[in-house]
Amino acid sequence: MSTHQLDKKAQAWSALFSEPMSELVKRYTASVFFDKRLWQADIEGSLAHAEMLAAQGIIAAQDLAQIQHGMAQIRSEIESGAFEWKLELEDVHLNIEARLTQLVGDAGKRLHTGRSRNDQVATDVRLWLRGEIDQIATLLADMQRALVHVAAQNVDVILPGFTHLQVAQPVSFAHHLLAYVEMFARDAERLADLRKRVNRLPLGSAALAGTSYPLDRERVARNLGMVDEAGRPAVCQNSLDAVSDRDFAIEFTGFASLVMVHVSRLAEEIVVWMSQNFGFINLSDRYCTGSSIMPQKRNPDVAELARGKSGRVIGHLMGLITLMKGQPLAYNKDNQEDKEPLFDTVDTVKDTLRIMAEMIGGEVAADGSPNPQRTRGLTVKAEAMQAAALRGYATATDLADYLVKKGLPFRDAHEVVAHAVKDAIALGKDLSELPLETLQGYDARITADVHEALTLSGSLNARNTLGGTAPAQVRTQIQRHQARLG
Ligand code: ARG
Repeated sequence: MSTHQLDKKAQAWSALFSEPMSELVKRYTASVFFDKRLWQADIEGSLAHAEMLAAQGIIAAQDLAQIQHGMAQIRSEIESGAFEWKLELEDVHLNIEARLTQLVGDAGKRLHTGRSRNDQVATDVRLWLRGEIDQIATLLADMQRALVHVAAQNVDVILPGFTHLQVAQPVSFAHHLLAYVEMFARDAERLADLRKRVNRLPLGSAALAGTSYPLDRERVARNLGMVDEAGRPAVCQNSLDAVSDRDFAIEFTGFASLVMVHVSRLAEEIVVWMSQNFGFINLSDRYCTGSSIMPQKRNPDVAELARGKSGRVIGHLMGLITLMKGQPLAYNKDNQEDKEPLFDTVDTVKDTLRIMAEMIGGEVAADGSPNPQRTRGLTVKAEAMQAAALRGYATATDLADYLVKKGLPFRDAHEVVAHAVKDAIALGKDLSELPLETLQGYDARITADVHEALTLSGSLNARNTLGGTAPAQVRTQIQRHQARLG
């Protein structure tokens, strides 16, 4: 059979048409140059469908054997790069089916029995996304491990905690990093939850209404690993919904947007900490770039790009959700536009998580050992952090708390300390540097033990409640995360 005949045959609607499609329309409607990325899922879905057709006696065992044989050949052709993708065949589904028919003849033509590209594509996207979700779950765990790794080495390193980006109270640098671990842990929870809704089978819905063939959809679901937590087959229960809604992709992109927002906040902090005005951290040279004009520059481009790429992923969320809005039931070609934003979201999130985790925690040797070697991640400049905490009257709240413990109502204590800070600023001194007699001038209840309350470590140790920054609490949290992340 010539390629020309085959292409005509693949376009099952062609008999109805009196003129060929315009070249521009062909290019405009084709998706093969991006959806060929779904090829593995497409073959996997087709094999499960064919296996069920044979089990139900809808196609012969011989047809199934030929389909399996042809698909194995196609798989190796695609892997080796020998497969010829054709624009005329519009998308990944028709390209693979046409090649199958070319290889095995009528058995190939029987594959599409009881199936439409509408339920086929919805199945393919779900299968593909499920695989990506599992990889992203691993990367999210790596990211958390990188942060916990750095945190574990910096429990007693103190930096100013900020509110309104004004020095507020001293916190442990580890505590600060663990805040991001919490964010990424919630992202991982969200991902695990949405995976359940991704992992459901549309196949068997056919074009929109179901099919007249006696399909066993649950068998296909089980073969494709589309099962719920109890191991029961997870099958989309309404054919119109199954072929048309892309809420699972929107939900994934919503998850991805939140991950990127969390990454972006962390990236912003890294940029700020790295600037000469803060000087809290340094990054390894391999994560920095220079300037073509200013020889002194070392720029944190990776962090800036991670921050920038969050906008791109949020844009994809907007794109996908707008794509869905206003679509009547059931399948519409609009849905072909789901792929590029979804693919780019996956690529961006994966690259970003990987590079940020390595930049922070160092690259991890893939030697499979329980405590693999890491290269150097970010360098913590503990003295600079501490000096900044001392400059900003970060222990003013501690002085107020001290007075409260001595019997002063909190609002009055707050006022007393405001006076002390005002005078200390005028003198260019920290509160802890004021002589005892001076402090006693603000309130007679102040005694020599005040200086312990005014140190940075005293301030940290005092915040020994669950979730607080006291090193004892932070160590407990690190242990919890280490046990959880393995
Ligand atoms: N390439 C199409 C998509 O991505 C496949 C489904 C096409 N179905 C159809 N009836 N035109 O959505």
